[in-house]
Amino acid sequence: MNTIAVRVSHAASLTHDIRLLELEPVDGGHLPEFEPGAHIDLHLGPSLVRQYSLCNAPGRATRYRVAVKRETSSRGGSWAVHDTLAVGSRLDISPPRNHFPMAPQAAHSILVAGGIGITPLIAMAQALLSRGESFELLYFCRSPEHAAFLEILQSPAFGSRCRFLFGLDRDAVATELEATLAAAAPGTHLYTCGPRPFMDTVTAMARARIPPENVHLEYFSADANLLGAPSEAFELRLARSGKAFSIAPGETIADTLRLAGVDVETSCEQGICGTCVTDVLEGTPDHRDCFLSDAEKSAGNCIAICVSRSRTPLLVLDM
Ligand code: FES
Repeated sequence: MNTIAVRVSHAASLTHDIRLLELEPVDGGHLPEFEPGAHIDLHLGPSLVRQYSLCNAPGRATRYRVAVKRETSSRGGSWAVHDTLAVGSRLDISPPRNHFPMAPQAAHSILVAGGIGITPLIAMAQALLSRGESFELLYFCRSPEHAAFLEILQSPAFGSRCRFLFGLDRDAVATELEATLAAAAPGTHLYTCGPRPFMDTVTAMARARIPPENVHLEYFSADANLLGAPSEAFELRLARSGKAFSIAPGETIADTLRLAGVDVETSCEQGICGTCVTDVLEGTPDHRDCFLSDAEKSAGNCIAICVSRSRTPLLVLDM
């Protein structure tokens, strides 16, 4: 796997539970360029790889910036960032990947952040500001003390483009969104990132006002309902090698293939990053990821093999 060796060049607390890291290449070379919305993998330990959005302002980066919230339900990633990394620590990262790209010619962009979901959106806000494009940012958060990057977003450069909405309940969030979306001009694109229930509210509100192809989502976590749905055994065939496997209930395609010595590339293993998406040649996938769009899921010609399964007794992959 292609990785870049970096060291932590700066670390700071943005709030009591959000930590900012700056990462610079160990060899002093350049870091690959990236577009707003991109993320990198942090290799935090054996089998501990986590994805974090880049928060950088636009322009050639000599350091990558990520901001990580300490999650009480951490599977190890946020704990490692908060408790084991310090200035001088070395780690490997992946080159940036972007599954949350911005539309090239939006008439207007609405960025809707829920809590730590601000991380990809601050990169977008800074890019839109520097390009002189029309946008507004709604930052929903529990309180000012819980909000990251206020210094940047409240700076005069952003003027009145950023609105800070603290401590609102679900109904009040919906009311605010309704008012913003009611004024959305044709050609508006909406980008949202945050906790799943928050994003569900945003997408439900956006559905009536903005075409689905103009609504862009970045999930942080898997959909527990989808992952926990009942599963049945099915046959898997790899078209290129002709190998066949039986996928038992409770086993994933990726794990089964890996155990059999087949080279499989995965990252999040939760159906959120898209690394493992593979073409389907025959059969109907039972999609359990939150990476593929509704249109891609309906088309049924690709599958996230780390979590998704098959609705048909046989599934044939282009591997
Ligand atoms: Fe991330 Fe499968 S590894 S979606």
